[in-house]
Amino acid sequence: MGKTKSFSCSHCGTVTSKWAGRCEACGEWNSISEDIGLSASGGKTSLGQKRGSRIELSTLASNDPLPPRTQSGIAELDLVLGGGLVPASAILVGGDPGIGKSTLLLQAAAHFANAGLSTLYISGEEASAQVKMRAKRLELSAAPVRLGAETNLRDILTTLESEKPDLVIIDSVQTIWSDKIESAPGSVSQVRACAHELTTFAKTHGISVVMVGHVTKEGQIAGPRVVEHMVDTVLYFEGERGHQFRILRAVKNRFGPADEIGVFEMTGRGLKEVANPSALFLSDREAQSPGSVVFAGIEGTRPLLVEFQALVSPSSLSQPRRAVIGWDSARLAMVLAVLESRCGIPFTGHDVYLNVAGGLKISEPAADLAVAAALLSALHDVRMSNDAVVFGEISLSGALRPVTQAENRLKEARKLGFSTAVAPTSDQLSESAGSQVTQVADLNAFVHAVLEKQVKTQTMGMDRH
Ligand code: TYD
Ligand code: MG
Repeated sequence: MGKTKSFSCSHCGTVTSKWAGRCEACGEWNSISEDIGLSASGGKTSLGQKRGSRIELSTLASNDPLPPRTQSGIAELDLVLGGGLVPASAILVGGDPGIGKSTLLLQAAAHFANAGLSTLYISGEEASAQVKMRAKRLELSAAPVRLGAETNLRDILTTLESEKPDLVIIDSVQTIWSDKIESAPGSVSQVRACAHELTTFAKTHGISVVMVGHVTKEGQIAGPRVVEHMVDTVLYFEGERGHQFRILRAVKNRFGPADEIGVFEMTGRGLKEVANPSALFLSDREAQSPGSVVFAGIEGTRPLLVEFQALVSPSSLSQPRRAVIGWDSARLAMVLAVLESRCGIPFTGHDVYLNVAGGLKISEPAADLAVAAALLSALHDVRMSNDAVVFGEISLSGALRPVTQAENRLKEARKLGFSTAVAPTSDQLSESAGSQVTQVADLNAFVHAVLEKQVKTQTMGMDRH
């Protein structure tokens, strides 16, 4: 019996018995190729003549030493990296154009170079003179960073091979092109191929590589997402235009916790670390205004206080507006629905606006109760007392679910002068918490407590305007 061949589509993975120019399942052209299995010889599983080398195996208990990390000395950056730079790791730094990626990485390069790493900075976007001018402005000209302006991948790899640096920064991966690929620099296949070559080359040569990737609105230039799965660590640099704050967020990290954030401020002399982010995010707070509620959150491993602001106004639209900045709009719809069906508080006929002050994006479900509090406060014109924080996740039944690290949240709140808190009953809080905590079992109890003042205003932390 003849050997049966099998073919599969590289686009959708569909397996067929014969080759075709176009995949019937997904419609992609030229994506079908023959599957050549190593062990597919006459149906029997054998390697034939071509043997590979044996893989070295070890037990789970073996004690491999952890790779020594290098700290840059920029504490917020080291935190986001999971405690410093791991040797031979690949890192992607994504972000909108103009947000400050080049500034951050030039500062990082200078710090790592000063810390003893041999560091190369390859700029594909700006001429050397421009980078030098920036270095001068940042007062980093003396740092032992070696600078090159190049976009040709072959030349970059050749340079890396002879220079053998510990760290190379590629700014940006979308400008680099490989002569093996025909499409234009920035296209999906170029970005993918260059990032792959760079990371595998860097790993086999023990070099850490940091690649910048611009987030692009149109599909013409490939965004950093194409590269995400190839690297060990993905950091996004975020911030609002018109705000000075910049957030560096780890969305993936093989060497540390994901979701960790570092907070920076863009100044005339580059990025400065923000040592106390909670104070920064609350600094513009207009105390005692209805609709404003302080949420005690956790970002990564660190507690962070942020202000939720809600505005509820009568609407003349048949479909009232629901506008959200810094939070998930589906989650807002859920909180509104639970308030309506479990607590009998409808928002129909009202426009609802929700904003996280300071340009931060919050994704924790623990913010649900703070959002509900802000909405109630805005709708009924009751204001939150000045020294209260709120946290708790709301389930569809209206019950409040416990949140993680409740005590850490309270501790951070106390540090910033918030001595009262509202939290779910299900959170086990020790007596020694030090804050005056009102624990509520469900949203209904919370609403009643707020609106009917069944609980003393001071303990509840809410007060009529
Ligand atoms: P840049 O790092 O070039 O952004 P990206 O590489 O992400 O495109 O930073 C651009 C902005 O930062 C630019 O508008 C100027 C501003 N900036 C400062 O405010 N202070 C500084 O010290 C530097 C170097 C830049
Ligand atoms: Mg740049």
